[in-house]
Amino acid sequence: MSSRFQAPKGTFDVLPGDAAGRELVERTARELFDRAGYARIETPVFEDTELFARGVGASTDIVRKEMFTFEDQGGRSVTLRPEGTAPIARAYLEHGMQKLPQPVKLWYAGPFFRHERPQAGRFRQFNQLGAEAIGSDSPLVDAELIMLLDELLQTLEVPALRLKLGSLGSPESRAEYREELKAFLREHEAELAKDVRERIDENPLRAFDSKDEGTRAAMAEAPTMLDRLDEADAEHFAAVRRLLDQAGISYELDGTLVRGLDYYTRTVFAFESDELGAQSEVGGGGRYDRLIEQLGGPPTPAAGWAAGIERILMARGSEGEPRAHNVFVAAVDPQRERALALVTELRQAGVRAELDLAGRGLKGQMRHADRLGAAHAVILDADGSAQLRDMRSGEQREIDLAKVTEELTAR
Ligand code: HAM
Repeated sequence: MSSRFQAPKGTFDVLPGDAAGRELVERTARELFDRAGYARIETPVFEDTELFARGVGASTDIVRKEMFTFEDQGGRSVTLRPEGTAPIARAYLEHGMQKLPQPVKLWYAGPFFRHERPQAGRFRQFNQLGAEAIGSDSPLVDAELIMLLDELLQTLEVPALRLKLGSLGSPESRAEYREELKAFLREHEAELAKDVRERIDENPLRAFDSKDEGTRAAMAEAPTMLDRLDEADAEHFAAVRRLLDQAGISYELDGTLVRGLDYYTRTVFAFESDELGAQSEVGGGGRYDRLIEQLGGPPTPAAGWAAGIERILMARGSEGEPRAHNVFVAAVDPQRERALALVTELRQAGVRAELDLAGRGLKGQMRHADRLGAAHAVILDADGSAQLRDMRSGEQREIDLAKVTEELTAR
């Protein structure tokens, strides 16, 4: 039976069968961040539109055409968050976190919204896990963040991973480089795709992101920012590389890694998995040393990353851990009400326990217990006695009701 309603284009339902994998990802991340001293932060699902226009950049695809923007009843323009960094930078300033010991290390997980063309691994509502370290320009921060994402993906056994590493330098050296790149693009205008040509002035770096073959061929010869870093940026990048080398993390240098957000400075990185199709990026991020200032705060260096939970799950291609140890309490009248009391007692003792809620007969309840994968069933007989049944072997024996919880928690 299906109704005429369906989940909106580019969205999906997380069904009970998908829950285990998600829980595993979230738990693994929570434990990892906790050990590394990153604290959880949650910001609203929508923000003032202006925050993203300023923070993410008016010339980016995200701001130009991918935001879910609407006017609220008070006539304010609000936008469903397309990413988490600008909101966290906003929260950092709004709550005076400059006064805390720096850097402030934060992590988050939740839904994000981009009006993109849906395809495998690309949705209009998707979930990200992310980390931000705000208030330090040390290359140790860049390295620690990359190592955390690496560890997360390794622990979750995401296969066929590649790390791409680049540096975008400072806005000043990038401005110089942009002029050089613009000149290069104008020289090769005939070979470029229309949308790249149209944005030569506005955003020449995005030419490196083009999927168009002619553009790609031309860009293979283009100068990259990596060759044009100033001394301080080159030193920072060398330090990050040294730290990654010392940690035994391998990476490919990629001078064409520009990423789709305008706030990046210096280090940028992306983890890709060959297990994914066209949308191969599992997670990525970088430094954004000017963002806080751009939002009206004091100069505050920062770095971070975000990973797509759906992309992690797709690349893993497997479920989370199977459910362990489960008790089904079966009962027929007049014992049904006691079954509820017993499962409550078991649950309070930490045992996963269920009872029949659909008026099944005893046979039906045993079949149901089997389907649920219960390891044991407790059968409450009409005369007040109880049986403990091992669902795997079928072995069954009488048990003292007063000792059921004690016995089952011991297992
Ligand atoms: P991003 O690269 O735009 O970065 O997104 C991070 C990750 O989110 C991607 O690597 C991808 O796995 C996932 N993702 C993005 N768009 C979609 C989509 N439409 N469907 C499914 N998954 C998607 C950021 O958002 C930055 N805020 C990361 C960052 C944090 N940089 C510094 N700090």
